[in-house]
Amino acid sequence: MATIKFFLVFFVTMSMMVSMSLAMPSLKVGFYQSTCPSVETIVRNTVNRAVSSNPGLAAGPHQNAFSMTALSGYGCDASILLDSTPGNQAERDNLANKPSLRGFEVIFEAKAELEAQCPQTLSCADIVAFAARDSAYKVGGISYMVPSGRRDGRVSREDEATQNLPPPTFNAQQLEERFAQKGLGLDEMVTLSGAHSIGRSNCSSFSNRLYNFNETNPQDPSIDPIFARDLKTKCPQNANNGNDPTVPLDVLTPYRLDNKYYKNLKKHRGLLTSDQSLLSSPSTAGIVRNNARHVQAWAYKFAAAMVKMGYIEVLTGSQGEIRKNCRFVN
Ligand code: HEM
Ligand SMILES: *[C@@H]1O[C@H](CO)[C@@H](O)[C@H](O)[C@H]1NC(C)=O
Ligand SMILES: *[C@@H]1O[C@H](CO)[C@@H](O)[C@H](O)[C@H]1NC(C)=O
Repeated sequence: MATIKFFLVFFVTMSMMVSMSLAMPSLKVGFYQSTCPSVETIVRNTVNRAVSSNPGLAAGPHQNAFSMTALSGYGCDASILLDSTPGNQAERDNLANKPSLRGFEVIFEAKAELEAQCPQTLSCADIVAFAARDSAYKVGGISYMVPSGRRDGRVSREDEATQNLPPPTFNAQQLEERFAQKGLGLDEMVTLSGAHSIGRSNCSSFSNRLYNFNETNPQDPSIDPIFARDLKTKCPQNANNGNDPTVPLDVLTPYRLDNKYYKNLKKHRGLLTSDQSLLSSPSTAGIVRNNARHVQAWAYKFAAAMVKMGYIEVLTGSQGEIRKNCRFVN
């Protein structure tokens, strides 16, 4: 029975991937096989070293840098990695990114090592995609192959981040629209949100739910009162730049990429409005319950959705460039 289920999920996933690759730009698994065969090993070793030395960093940064980035449209062309230059405030410096995008050093470190071995061969965008995959495996045991051959973008603009990143105050319907704009469906949206099973959030991203929800309710009624009471001991009423602590996005297993996130939602222990509203909304509640019940099915869907997200607005062929330093355009 278990075997049958496994193959079912396996074939559904595989056929999704095949039908996707027909319609999508030409990335391929093993793109660097002939030009620099050790690339994936080098990225993996760098990620493993970083994650082992700092479990708090865990998949957070890579997952986040990659996924939130991919979603946000400037996407897989790695413009998120660029430094600001005078006269051009980079995406990375935008407030929406600043608190959440940790672990860029890991990407830079892998790039430095790769440049020494294979100069200007591996794009920063592919490093981010590989690193996301490797951290999903390291902290979640989720494995998938990453089609590669992405090129790096030449521009980074501050406003793109705010335009594309969904704010944590969005409800399920608003999230659905935002994901649909990137070609991602409802199930993919709920499934990818499971990434909030790792990492942390600054209090300022959700403290309205604790202190000033609306005129009639200071506290969001969709939050478990005991959970809220605990959060209030950690989060000040007016979290701001000077005092804005962080708490885990998943209280049960903050360092493990698993389906506990959905179990939290069922107990009204989702941290962000965007998290908890996946249970409040009838269109997504069933998906939440399914993902909470079937960890393996969720993991397969997660892998497939990560691969799909890796195609969002990619540059390939002669578009863009291969950056020498991920922080600067050539
Ligand atoms: C559904 C829409 C989403 C919203 C509104 C959202 C919003 C957020 C917010 C507000 C934070 C905390 C930032 C802070 O205050 O420090 C965060 C963290 C994070 N997000 Fe999302 N996110 C979404 C989807 C995703 C997706 C699709 C992924 C990956 C597949 C992802 C991965 C992460 C990770 C790993 C962290 C933790 C970062 C860390 O520990 O440094 N998020 N997200
Ligand atoms: C405040 O939120 C509650 C729960 O979502 C809702 O029932 C109520 O109508 C809201 N009040 C106002 C003034 O918006
Ligand atoms: C978010 O939390 C981190 C870690 O405590 C802190 O360094 C950072 O300043 C906070 N972000 C903001 C916007 O205050």
